[in-house]
Amino acid sequence: MRRVRYHSYGGPEVLRIEEAEVPEPGTGELRLRTEVIGANFIDSRFRQGLGAQYGRPMPAALTGDVVGTVEAVGPGVDTGLLGQRVAVLSEDAFADHVIADAQWAAPVPDGLDDGAASMLPLATPVALGTLRAGRFTAGETVLVHAAAGGIGHLAVQLAKLLGAGKVIATAGSPAKLEFARAHGADVAIDYTQGDWADQVRAAAPDGVDVVLDSIGGDTTTLSVDLLAPYGRLVAYGLASGTPGEVSARALYALRTVTGFSLTAWRAARPEEVTAAVAKATGYFLDGSLRATVHTRLNLTEVAKAHQLFDERAQLGRVLLTP
Ligand SMILES: NC(=O)c1ccc[n+]([C@@H]2O[C@H](COP(=O)([O-])OP(=O)(O)OC[C@H]3O[C@@H](n4cnc5c(N)ncnc54)[C@H](OP(=O)(O)O)[C@@H]3O)[C@@H](O)[C@H]2O)c1
Repeated sequence: MRRVRYHSYGGPEVLRIEEAEVPEPGTGELRLRTEVIGANFIDSRFRQGLGAQYGRPMPAALTGDVVGTVEAVGPGVDTGLLGQRVAVLSEDAFADHVIADAQWAAPVPDGLDDGAASMLPLATPVALGTLRAGRFTAGETVLVHAAAGGIGHLAVQLAKLLGAGKVIATAGSPAKLEFARAHGADVAIDYTQGDWADQVRAAAPDGVDVVLDSIGGDTTTLSVDLLAPYGRLVAYGLASGTPGEVSARALYALRTVTGFSLTAWRAARPEEVTAAVAKATGYFLDGSLRATVHTRLNLTEVAKAHQLFDERAQLGRVLLTP
């Protein structure tokens, strides 16, 4: 079978297709025949080896959200899964056959398209989990950064679906602003322009109740100052590469900064994660949530997918097929 590896950090060109034996699932694992692979921005950071937090043992594989059919199960895994169509996050996702943790394999019902299915393992539980971590309630104003991204465009829709009074989206180009509006954002702001925080203040004069922050750096620091009394910022990513700095004094105005990681949520409350995935599946099936696929590429074009991430050019989901 084919799989993707890189042997040194670098540009998209370090990604190579290699031949390998089809792997056998270990205890608690299953093997899928790949139908489609959802690529994630974070792997472009790993590939570039950007700082200690992104270090990978070489040769390194790419993670991703794989949709496929279960063709083998390891010890301790329900054999009833064999032949089922599932979606699951894999640490070695860019391959014709992949191994993954059976516990987190999400069932993919008939009628669910592959783009939506690819969002079940990671993006939808992250979008729902950040709103939950931010103790979001209906009627509140939500600020979603990187709103045209894979997770961002789902977060915009889910905030609206769950009754947000106003969703303010930020993104880095006019096309992304249009995309965020098309997914339900009430206000869209280009945060590559210096005055973005003032534009948020104009759109939410009483402050923002919940900020979903996947950027870090100055974006975090400035966003805390946009919070209404009792407002919450949820830090869940570092696209800028730098953690935001928040002074305790900035919190005196009844503000809270919290964090979210899917790994932490899975460990702390696995049943909530499973319920969130089931809820998202229902939203996709009834059409109240949609996953927009930016492009579909062949596995052999994996470098092109990473080039999109490096250029911040993706709107929604990037999919690869074997
Ligand atoms: N906590 C968790 O459990 C968890 C799980 C998965 C992913 N994440 C994080 O969630 C975030 C979103 O993931 P995603 O896969 O949906 O990615 P994405 O939003 O599709 O891509 C990242 C986006 O971040 C924005 N960005 C802002 N500053 C940037 C910078 N300095 N360099 C590059 N990009 C920058 C870009 O959009 P603009 O051009 O619009 O600025 C870029 O397209 C990522 O930070 C990821 O690490 C967290």
